[in-house]
Amino acid sequence: MESRFFSSLVTFLVLSSLSLSPWLAFAGRPATGGNQKCCFPAIFNFGDSNSDTGGLSAVFGQAPPPHGMTFFGGPAGRYCDGRVIVDFIAEHFGLPYTSPYLSAIGTDLNYGANFATAGSTIRPQNTTFHDTGFSPISLDVQWNEFYDFHTRSQVVRNHSGVYQKLLPKNKAAYRDILPPIDVFNNGLYTFDIGQNDLTAGYFLNKTTDEVREYVPEVVNKLKDIISWIYGLGGRSFWIHNTGPVGCLPYVFERIPVLASQVDEAGCAIPFNDVAQYFNSKLKEAVAQLRQEFPLGAFTYVDIYKLKYTMFHDGAKHGFTETIKNCCGFGGRYNFNLKQGCGSMEIVNGTQVVLGKACDKPGEYVVWDGVHFTEAANKFIYNNIVSGAHSDPPVPLDMACHRMD
Ligand SMILES: *[C@@H]1O[C@H](CO)[C@@H](O)[C@H](O)[C@H]1NC(C)=O
Ligand SMILES: *[C@@H]1O[C@H](CO)[C@@H](O)[C@H](O)[C@H]1NC(C)=O
Ligand SMILES: *[C@@H]1O[C@H](CO)[C@@H](O)[C@H](O)[C@H]1NC(C)=O
Ligand SMILES: *[C@@H]1O[C@H](CO)[C@@H](O)[C@H](O)[C@H]1NC(C)=O
Repeated sequence: MESRFFSSLVTFLVLSSLSLSPWLAFAGRPATGGNQKCCFPAIFNFGDSNSDTGGLSAVFGQAPPPHGMTFFGGPAGRYCDGRVIVDFIAEHFGLPYTSPYLSAIGTDLNYGANFATAGSTIRPQNTTFHDTGFSPISLDVQWNEFYDFHTRSQVVRNHSGVYQKLLPKNKAAYRDILPPIDVFNNGLYTFDIGQNDLTAGYFLNKTTDEVREYVPEVVNKLKDIISWIYGLGGRSFWIHNTGPVGCLPYVFERIPVLASQVDEAGCAIPFNDVAQYFNSKLKEAVAQLRQEFPLGAFTYVDIYKLKYTMFHDGAKHGFTETIKNCCGFGGRYNFNLKQGCGSMEIVNGTQVVLGKACDKPGEYVVWDGVHFTEAANKFIYNNIVSGAHSDPPVPLDMACHRMD
C-alpha cells in the first residue's frame, strides 16, 4: 500500500512537476485568492453513466465487451471503450482511478469513492430498473452511501489491521508521512448528474413543458445534497452541467421530432433546450451555494458546450463521425434500441455478437448511442483543465480555492 502511494506521489510529481513543498503545505482548504495548486488526496464522485467506473456493473452485471476495449483491454465497469472524464481527473492528480463504492472486488477506498451508477437520476424514480432502465441508485441513495461511508469508515478503521490500510483517515495523520489531513475535508467532490432526470420524463411521454416544469425541483434536490456534503466537511466541489441529450440517438430514435426541430448538427432542438434550461438553473444554484457557504469552493463546469462543439464541429477536432455510434447494430445511426453495444444473439445454436464496435473508436464522438467515446471524454477533459469552461474560471488544479 505504502509503495503504491509513493508511486502515485511520484507520478503526481512528474505529471505536474511540483516540488514537494506545496504538497506538504497541503492547500486543500479553500482560501480566497489562494494561488497554490490543490493536492487533493481523494476524489468523491456522484453521478450517472457519464462518470460510472463500475457501480452499476457491480450490482446489475458487468457492461459486456467490447466496453473497455480501447484502454482497459476488456470490460471495466464503464459504458465506454475506455476512460471516462473522472478517470482523467484522477490521473491529473496522480490518484488511482476512483473505486466504485458498490464493488467489493479490487476496491481501494483510500483515495475516495465513486458513488455514480449508470442510469442514476437526482430524484428517485417511481419506475423500476426492470421497467425503464433507470438506476435505483439515485442521488439520495448515493448520499446515504456517502454518509455511511464517512461515519462507518472511521469506526471500522479503529478495528486496526487491514482496515487502516483500506479506509481513508478523517482528522488524523495521513499515511504517517504527511502532516495531519482530513481526507474527507480535503477531497475533491465531483458531480455529473441530471441528464437522466430529463429523459425519464420524456420516456414517460411527458411533454417538453411538463419536463421543464419539474426541472427546478430536480436542481434544488442536487443543491440540497451538495449542501449536506458541505455540512460533513466537504469544501471543494467540481460540478459538471448536463450535456446536449438531443444529440444522442437513444433519445431522438425513441422520441422522434419534426424535421423542423432538428438543427444543423443533426440534434433535436427541444431536448437540447430543456438541457440548457436545466443548466441555467444549475448555474444559479451553484452561485447560491457559493453565497451561502463561504468556506466552500464551488465550480460549475460547462460540459454542454464542449459536447455540442464535438457534434457541430467534429471534423475540426478529429472526429469523422459525430452522431453515428461506434458500437451498435443497424439503423441509420448504428443504433438499435433492442440490440445495444455488446448484445448477443443465438443464431442456429451459436452465440453471435450483434452489437460490434467500429474499427476506429478514436474518430467517433458517440460510443453506443447513449455514451461518449474515450476520445470524446479526453477532448472534454483537455478543455476543462484550464478553467476556460468553468464559472468562475477556476482551473482544475485550483478547484480548492474561491475566486470571487
Ligand atoms: C413519484 O411519486 C411521488 C408521489 O406521487 C411524487 O411526489 C414524485 O414527484 C414522483 N417522482 C417522480 C420522479 O416523478
Ligand atoms: C477510535 O479509537 C480512538 C482510540 O481508542 C478513540 O479515541 C476514537 O474515538 C475512536 N474513533 C471512532 C470513530 O470510533
Ligand atoms: C408512451 O407512448 C407510447 C406510444 O403511444 C406507448 O406505447 C407507451 O406505452 C407510452 N408509455 C407510457 C409510460 O405511458
Ligand atoms: C440457420 O440455418 C438455416 C438452416 O440451415 C439456414 O437456412 C440459415 O441461413 C441459417 N441462419 C444463419 C443466420 O446463418
